[in-house]
Amino acid sequence: MKNRSIYFVQPPAGPVTPACFAVRDESVPALSEGDVLVRNIYLSCDPYMRGRMGGTANYPSGKTFPLDRVIPARVVGQVEASRNPTFAEGDFVWGFLGWELYSLAVGGGDLRLIDPSLGPISHAVTVIGMPGLTARVGILDIGKPQLGETAFISSASGAVGQVAGQIAKLAGCRVVGSAGSDAKVSHIVEKLGYDAAFNYKTVPSIGAALDAHCPDGIDIYFENVGGETLEAVLDRINQGARIPVCGMISQYDNAERYEPRNLANVEAKNAVMQRFSIYAHMDQFDEFLPWIAERIKDGRIVYYEDIVDGVDNTIDAFIGMMKGENLGKRLVRVSADPTL
Ligand SMILES: NC(=O)c1ccc[n+]([C@@H]2O[C@H](COP(=O)([O-])OP(=O)(O)OC[C@H]3O[C@@H](n4cnc5c(N)ncnc54)[C@H](OP(=O)(O)O)[C@@H]3O)[C@@H](O)[C@H]2O)c1
Repeated sequence: MKNRSIYFVQPPAGPVTPACFAVRDESVPALSEGDVLVRNIYLSCDPYMRGRMGGTANYPSGKTFPLDRVIPARVVGQVEASRNPTFAEGDFVWGFLGWELYSLAVGGGDLRLIDPSLGPISHAVTVIGMPGLTARVGILDIGKPQLGETAFISSASGAVGQVAGQIAKLAGCRVVGSAGSDAKVSHIVEKLGYDAAFNYKTVPSIGAALDAHCPDGIDIYFENVGGETLEAVLDRINQGARIPVCGMISQYDNAERYEPRNLANVEAKNAVMQRFSIYAHMDQFDEFLPWIAERIKDGRIVYYEDIVDGVDNTIDAFIGMMKGENLGKRLVRVSADPTL
């Protein structure tokens, strides 16, 4: 068995390019007592990984990926070999492994078992995993939606955004989304059930689009993108608005950040603007699982994944996701999923 791994070799100066990575063929690592060898099936591509690659002086991200190491990522896979009593050969698992064909979870690492009866195994790193929980924390814990309010979600068809909008809708909000293509806009309304959506790249102005689609102002803004969108929203928030700040992807590559000129509106409107990181909410995870699984099962929440095949396409899949090519949560399938 040969491994193929994607190493992080160079921080990007601006947008991520293939030069940031090196693809290396290696032997599959040997197991010691307690270790688990995972045949990776789905590799996750997430925007936060851009922050971890550093290289953008004005967007400090805290921890950066170590150079000359395999890119760490959430992965769904199947146990290939185990010297750990908790995991048997053939079990489906997910955990923080790496962009590669086989990963060794030393001492079992942070692996968790996946119950394939809950749905597609890929969901462990998508709707029933980190992106799904992120959406729920942002909308319910920070957004605190009330019947009849208006919720606006940016990057509304993405991994997190698609769930955020549906949870706000279930809570009785009028839900409006933005995204970067007409295909995404149709999908947001027709498949995800939003009340309205617009293409932020082609509207004459984001502010005018918000005026048209949010005639009663904005009570909740689920912030995924930052920049001009945030500025346009801040001019249209209602008294007591809540802004869960999930991310600001429009700024991740920029040497200079686009700073909204109207932050004073947060004060004037007695609004709450709160950054949150899902890592601080992992204590909700065990309770979240049955909560979301029930809603997927009865169709109240639908979820779309955008799957690219082949480990050799991982780098392009990530770069494409950062540019908006993904319709739904981007994953890379690097080996066969036997549950399909
Ligand atoms: N706080 C947390 O714990 C947490 C957890 C997960 C994710 N996040 C954040 O949540 C946001 C969404 O992440 P995700 O995983 O759901 O990714 P995603 O929305 O599935 O994919 C990223 C999308 O961002 C959009 N985008 C890229 N550049 C943009 C720009 N300049 N302006 C506006 N949109 C742009 C693209 O769609 P378009 O076609 O619409 O441009 C792209 O498809 C990110 O900011 C991420 O960092 C935070």
